[in-house]
Amino acid sequence: MANYKVKIKGTGMYVPEKVLSNFDLEKLVDTSDQWIYERTGIKNRRICSTEGGEWPTDMALKATLDALKTAKLEPNDIDMILFGSVTPDYKLPNSATVLQTKLGITNNCAALDIAAACSGFVYGLNMAQSMIKTGMVKNVLVVGSEMLSREVNWEDRNTCILFGDGCGVAIVGRNEDNDESDVISCYLGADGTGKEFFDQPVGGAVEPITTDHLEKKNYFMQMKGKEMFKVATRTLAQNAKRVLEDAGMDLSQVDWLVPHQANVRIIETTGKLLGIEPEKVIVNIDKYANTSAATIPMAFHEAIQEGKIKRGDIVLFDAFGAGLTTGATLFRY
Ligand code: UT7
Repeated sequence: MANYKVKIKGTGMYVPEKVLSNFDLEKLVDTSDQWIYERTGIKNRRICSTEGGEWPTDMALKATLDALKTAKLEPNDIDMILFGSVTPDYKLPNSATVLQTKLGITNNCAALDIAAACSGFVYGLNMAQSMIKTGMVKNVLVVGSEMLSREVNWEDRNTCILFGDGCGVAIVGRNEDNDESDVISCYLGADGTGKEFFDQPVGGAVEPITTDHLEKKNYFMQMKGKEMFKVATRTLAQNAKRVLEDAGMDLSQVDWLVPHQANVRIIETTGKLLGIEPEKVIVNIDKYANTSAATIPMAFHEAIQEGKIKRGDIVLFDAFGAGLTTGATLFRY
């Protein structure tokens, strides 16, 4: 069987224009800029317009057009779209097919949504790389795009301060440049027993939204923050060790850790558990808050734009989220 090298050929991101600051939130719920910043590291988040033009697939379209330019590819060069999101445009059809049409793709490429919450992008990337390695597909568009502002209860200070909207994408494909870029090792996992730590049980087949739910406003995302915090730090550290061990590498060889951006204290604790220098950890949660599947591709793209992450660097993506899902990717960019 073929064993092609895999390269991230292009990246892109889009965030909505509207900025919602901690001070704005002080007017909505009983909170303060100081509490939010000290406990989470968040200052601002972006909020999609509900007038149209900033739905999850619109954000993905804009991010993808930039990524295609960098990759020097055309929309029809994409063989597959994997769209990580828990906030799709519609229940049906999936967001990947909506994006396919918006991109003007006419090659009937496969198009699949991945509902793995904050791990959605890493799930997509790891699935994509395995299909590229075997030769099944050549170029995959992996997306993380979320409009969480639609799913949070803006009267619940436990959750509404944490989340934001945004999108990050990567075009990952067969490395035909004969350079060192490749995915070195990766991991995907889940533990369904932690489902009650972060869920949204109302609105699905089991419990459709009724007028009663609308009155009680209990159909939003809900989270047990402390439990999530503990699992997150443990899981992120385990993931990193696992992929490094599989690769026969150690942390000193990693140039950049790009962790899921849920809370700066989770990131710092994970960094301490691993013993990685803080300068090697990419953090942008202050600007965008937790954008679920979009955090890792957005942080990665920004770090490239800022000249931090360069070609040839060893990068480690590390994600966890509702489910509980988790995953990591170790690669040479
Ligand atoms: O993407 C994956 C999903 N996300 C996560 O994994 C997030 C994980 N969890 C967290 O980031 C943190 O647990 C939170 C930021 C959610 C909460 O931080 P914490 O340090 O665990 O705070 P806490 O829940 O223990 O609350 C401490 C106090 C409480 O008051 P009392 O009981 O001590 O009087 C809360 O009621 O802070 C209060 N509080 C707030 N105060 C001001 C809770 N939320 C707020 C708020 N503003 N927004």
